Amino acid sequence: MNFPKKFPKIETERLVLREIADEDTHAIYRNFSDPEVAKWFFEQPLTDLVQAKEFITAFKNEFREGEGLTWAIVLKQSDRCVGTCGYGDLEIGERGEIGFDLAQDQWGKGLMSEALLPIIDYGFKELGLKKIEAHSYSTNVRAIRLLEKVGFQLEKISENNHYYFITRSGENLPST
Ligand SMILES: CC(C)(COP(=O)(O)OP(=O)(O)OC[C@H]1O[C@@H](n2cnc3c(N)ncnc32)[C@H](O)[C@@H]1OP(=O)(O)O)[C@@H](O)C(=O)NCCC(=O)NCCS
Repeated sequence: MNFPKKFPKIETERLVLREIADEDTHAIYRNFSDPEVAKWFFEQPLTDLVQAKEFITAFKNEFREGEGLTWAIVLKQSDRCVGTCGYGDLEIGERGEIGFDLAQDQWGKGLMSEALLPIIDYGFKELGLKKIEAHSYSTNVRAIRLLEKVGFQLEKISENNHYYFITRSGENLPST
């Protein structure tokens, strides 16, 4: 199973999932400077566009190194980037960890479920993953509901975090 040479573009009914580009700096800054989004990732929300640029560079590097795949989530209707989703800690043919964020004004429309379902499918079929993991603060009710809705199973609860997994074969057998 090979890591893709060209960044994979995915289309759904309402979304285009494409490679993150410099033009997404403001969208990424907007999400991670919003305390309601940022609090699930960092101690402090972003305060400077430069920090968003650094994220974009990190996402590009991860892809170049074959260690991660993070898509920009773009609304087809307005061509607006509203968030990101993708894999970090990738071990092709084995496992990856999924992460995601969406602009607050877009919550509650089912957009992240629409984005996660095809990237999970991509992970199993194209990256050959056997297991996809995700974790969330135990207080992040929206993220937990989303993960369970798209098929993740709870592996453990530890130190205020819920740890989830989903396997290619659908087995209920975490390998820890
Ligand atoms: C976590 C996060 C992505 C969830 O976003 P969301 O919009 O609630 O997630 P979904 O795409 O699953 O949308 C679900 C809601 O949309 C509603 N909805 C509306 N139309 C829908 C449709 N066509 N399909 C599915 N759901 C739809 C559902 O009723 C559902 O609401 P409910 O869960 O209260 O029943 C978002 O809250 C976020 O970005 N949070 C901050 C970042 C974060 O926490 N990231 C994860 C760190 S681990």
